[in-house]
Amino acid sequence: MYNVKKITDDLFWVGGNDRRLALFENVYPIPEGISYNSYVLMDEKTVLLDTADSAIMELFMENVKAVLNGRKLDYIIVNHMEPDHSASLMRIAELYPEARIVTSAKAKTMMGQFFDFDMDRVDVVKEGDTLTTGRHTLTFVAAPMVHWPEVIFTFDQTDGTLFSADAFGTFGALNGNLFADEVNFETEWLASARRYYTNIVGKYGPQVQKVLEKAGGLNIRRICPLHGPVWRENIGWFIDRYQHWATCTPEDKGVVIFVGSIYGHTQNAADVLASAIADEGIHNVKVYDVSVTDASYLLAEAFRASHLVFASATYNNEIFTNMEHFLMELKEHAFHSRTVAVMENGTWAPQSGKKIRAMLEEMKDMTVLDQTVTFKSAPKEAQRADILALAKAVADAVKAS
Ligand code: FEO
Repeated sequence: MYNVKKITDDLFWVGGNDRRLALFENVYPIPEGISYNSYVLMDEKTVLLDTADSAIMELFMENVKAVLNGRKLDYIIVNHMEPDHSASLMRIAELYPEARIVTSAKAKTMMGQFFDFDMDRVDVVKEGDTLTTGRHTLTFVAAPMVHWPEVIFTFDQTDGTLFSADAFGTFGALNGNLFADEVNFETEWLASARRYYTNIVGKYGPQVQKVLEKAGGLNIRRICPLHGPVWRENIGWFIDRYQHWATCTPEDKGVVIFVGSIYGHTQNAADVLASAIADEGIHNVKVYDVSVTDASYLLAEAFRASHLVFASATYNNEIFTNMEHFLMELKEHAFHSRTVAVMENGTWAPQSGKKIRAMLEEMKDMTVLDQTVTFKSAPKEAQRADILALAKAVADAVKAS
């Protein structure tokens, strides 16, 4: 049965939800599910903006047919060629053989790589080109690396609607409500949006900043992303979140302690540190075991907080495996500009602290506090003073920021 949502009198959401997929991109856990958004504009000409993942292909096709209500489809605009939005393109192109496919040059090349259909149907557009469909005039905005190089945004100049591809998207299936102003986005969705941005697009902060600058010149009244809720109110607040994430600027003054512990002794020291930081008056403190919490959540938390602590056992004379993996994730996502502290453990030769510092040096503008804690096997009372001194150094740094 079709399931569509009306956005304006002539714009409709024709996407769907996936609550069965365990790993988005076969990497990121999505216990909250995901939506694949697609839109139909009903003007003198009809326009489909992006398609959908194969998981919801049948529902998506039914939705498109329901909105078109017997009319033919004139245009299919492809803003992004990643298969979560293009897997249904071949089927919809076969169903509506007269539809022209409108996209960027790079996306056309990718279409030829993913599919076998007549490329003479594909019209290439570039930044600033327009398509008039009757009442609406659509213009195209290049958005390379948000999230792939072929990405374009489509801006409806008539109604101020920005079709923003992956930008302004979020993990999370839609639960009946399509609009961000119909839910408590800050408490129910923001963490998912941050995890989505930082993991999927986080590496490309400078490119996102460029697109945000371009978006600043548009009279945006509505944002229709490819995942998650549609924005029509308080758009500036969400753009401001994006500006923080794109520039790797902390959202919260506070501390996150990441712990790599084998038998619980490093965890013990980290909890003593967390208590002492709270006793110093810094109550925004979180502790995560890097072997328990998936790295995608850890990355998002690193982007959120102003101060970080890495507390790790030594393993095979290296950083404990899962801590090393997390630090690699930070580096590969171009994480930068934080004040951090290090705590190390090792039963016969503590090495993790030195090696963590070396990995942090490969990231831009990281300030590592001189104060540190080293212990062998298990923290003893003799180390309490060191831990309290580290807590004071971290707390002082937070207060001074
Ligand atoms: Fe939602 Fe980059 O695809």
